[in-house]
Amino acid sequence: MSVFPEVHAAVRDRLAQLPPLQFGSLTLKSRYLLSPLAGYTNLPFRRIVRELGGVGLATTDLVNARGLLDGGPKTLQLVESCSQDRPFAVQIFGSDPIVMRDAAQLLQGRGVDSIDINMGCPVNRITKVGAGASLMCQVDRTLELVRTVVEAVSLPVTVKMRLGWDSANLTAPRFAREFEQVGVAAVAIHGRTREQGFSGLVDRTGIRQVVEAVEKIPVVGNGDIRTIADGARMFAETGCQAISMGRGALANPWLFRQFVEWETTGAPESAGSFDDRLVLLRRQFDYVVEQRGLERAISSFRKMAHWYLKAMLVPASLRNQLQSAKTRAEFDESLVEIAAHGPSRGSRTGELPDLYIPVPSGPNELW
Ligand SMILES: Cc1cc2nc3c(=O)[nH]c(=O)nc-3n(C[C@H](O)[C@H](O)[C@H](O)COP(=O)(O)O)c2cc1C
Repeated sequence: MSVFPEVHAAVRDRLAQLPPLQFGSLTLKSRYLLSPLAGYTNLPFRRIVRELGGVGLATTDLVNARGLLDGGPKTLQLVESCSQDRPFAVQIFGSDPIVMRDAAQLLQGRGVDSIDINMGCPVNRITKVGAGASLMCQVDRTLELVRTVVEAVSLPVTVKMRLGWDSANLTAPRFAREFEQVGVAAVAIHGRTREQGFSGLVDRTGIRQVVEAVEKIPVVGNGDIRTIADGARMFAETGCQAISMGRGALANPWLFRQFVEWETTGAPESAGSFDDRLVLLRRQFDYVVEQRGLERAISSFRKMAHWYLKAMLVPASLRNQLQSAKTRAEFDESLVEIAAHGPSRGSRTGELPDLYIPVPSGPNELW
């Protein structure tokens, strides 16, 4: 999606006039945020994008508030962080205000910088227990839940939601206004309804209505931002103060840094090459080993390796070889072959084509 140069200039002028992005008492270094992607936005990936630069705030995958209180090792791993991973937010989901309150207090005790409440997840497993996007269907209960969490902690509390349940119930502007009144520090809006899942286009007019509904809290525009032009358009058409990227960050982890360069100089550098991505892949794998041990790292890294290798235009036979590695030696040997082969098109030091990350499709009841 291309955008006229005058739009870029007008947006950059507006951003230059804005004060730094503020979530309550937390001042963020940039207005480019990492959106939660369950299964991907774990500590190793967050470390990678932060090392590349430009990330104002990164959020964990969604975490079950009750699971957090139960203290299971898998849930606790989701909220692990380190000094390089700051500031960071934990996103919690649930439908019981008391459980959400206790989870928020537990997180505050663990030194989290901000807490995000999930009100956008369309997946049936989450909505059928009254959490995620289904919170957008119950005004009083939802306000009570959010108020309870805000009042229980001194940290900034944010909410991430969709435009509404469906096109007949676009409740995001009303919720955003009410949330501001109960002390929510910012809202992030994925510009689709629950009914849409990931289909159709992001409705930037809908996001603009949320921006217009609040008095002063920042609104974060989200959805389908993969390039600087996509981001410029989100700022221009919604008036939002910040943007967040999920799939775009998987496809191009340099995106945050590029946005900061665009905002400050107007001339972002290109994303990393095949060779640069190979360095990132190896480094992220090492971080996974550090966190989970070698055996679990090899199996749990497959999902992420898939996107790295696709973005690097590695042929299927070599991708499969890495994906079937069972030992560190097999993993390393396979990477040596991948490095020697290079990308199947273009140069190993040049720019790679854009990568689209597909999303679940079909009726979202079945996801
Ligand atoms: C695989 C996947 C996992 C996701 N997990 C979460 C999640 O845990 N919490 C959440 O609020 N949104 C989640 N989302 C939604 C994203 O945060 C984001 O709102 C959506 O993908 C649109 O933004 P994007 O086009 O930049 O990815 C997920 C999306 C995908 C594709």
